Amino acid sequence: MSFRVLALESSCDEFAGAVIEDGIEVLASVVASQAEIHARYGGVVPEVAGREHLRNLAPVMQATLESAGLDWDDLDAIAVTQGPGLGGSLLVGVNAAKAAAWARGLPLIPVHHIAGHLYANWLRPARDEWDDAPPPFPLVALVVSGGHTELFWMQDHERVERIGQTRDDAAGEAFDKVGRLLGLPFPGGPEIERAAGRASPERIAALDPLPRAWLPGTHDFSFSGLKTAVLNRVRRAEAAGQEIDVPAMAARFQESVTDVLAEKTALAAESLGAACVVVAGGVAANSALREALRSRCAVPVRVPPPRLCTDNAAMIGAAACYRQTRAPLDIDVFSTSGAEVFSADS
Ligand code: KG4
Ligand code: ZN
Repeated sequence: MSFRVLALESSCDEFAGAVIEDGIEVLASVVASQAEIHARYGGVVPEVAGREHLRNLAPVMQATLESAGLDWDDLDAIAVTQGPGLGGSLLVGVNAAKAAAWARGLPLIPVHHIAGHLYANWLRPARDEWDDAPPPFPLVALVVSGGHTELFWMQDHERVERIGQTRDDAAGEAFDKVGRLLGLPFPGGPEIERAAGRASPERIAALDPLPRAWLPGTHDFSFSGLKTAVLNRVRRAEAAGQEIDVPAMAARFQESVTDVLAEKTALAAESLGAACVVVAGGVAANSALREALRSRCAVPVRVPPPRLCTDNAAMIGAAACYRQTRAPLDIDVFSTSGAEVFSADS
């Protein structure tokens, strides 16, 4: 008997729906992105995001079921991102999920957004590249998104421990902030990757490398010093009336971030004896990061295809299948990262 879950994700500026079967098959995945709207403001405006979600939720839920070719009667559960994220955005998805669960008499499965990102690696599109095998345990998982930069040690689905995290900015946040400093559109991550791709080796060599915070002896990260270093270079150039070489600076920045992420992840995998490394979150879409990880890690590195790295509901459906925990219909959202990603009851 298969287990089909309708999943909703609305933690930030995407309202997404998906139908996932048995934690593997993506029967449908629909994402309504608001990136263009927020690009006008240079960042996500929380109230605008929540209101757009209200407009998108019914069409996205309908499009998801249509795309899966299923009816409400074919579903076994409703999953939804409970947090962390923007409070007003989360409320829209959670309330829609509660309404659907109540109306159809289906169990409601709340999912931690970060657990969702990780479980994108268990979906068919990620598994196909690996002859359908799920990521082997024990593994080290690197989650790099707009709000999170964390390393987990996963011995199996039940035993998961956070071993490191950023002490200041998340990697994606650093990409977005540096993108803004360099005058690139929001979100900065993909723009920096594109700009860096236009930089010639000579132009990159003409710029001094940017700093790297190694924080030796820990599995933690820090990116605020790197961001400040870019800011100082931009200010110095402006004061001297010089133009910043945006592609070369983007390349130097990307190189610093990916170098630290890859090296520290490889070290963690080696010291703990991991059988593989999985990567997840929006920044995992970055090909320089994928290459750096693959060249440093002694064990296989698994990264979902880019569309499953950035926010989507398929990953939420996958996590819900592996971590089926029913919740009462009076659950609240949580906007901060305080809640445990893999608490005993989540
Ligand atoms: O996981 P995600 O979609 O949303 C959060 O949960 O935060 O991640 C969004 C972040 C943004 O900071 C965005 O700039 C970054 O992922 N990102 C990238 C790339 N694509 C998205 N960063 C670097 N390179 C990319 N190609
Ligand atoms: Zn995310």
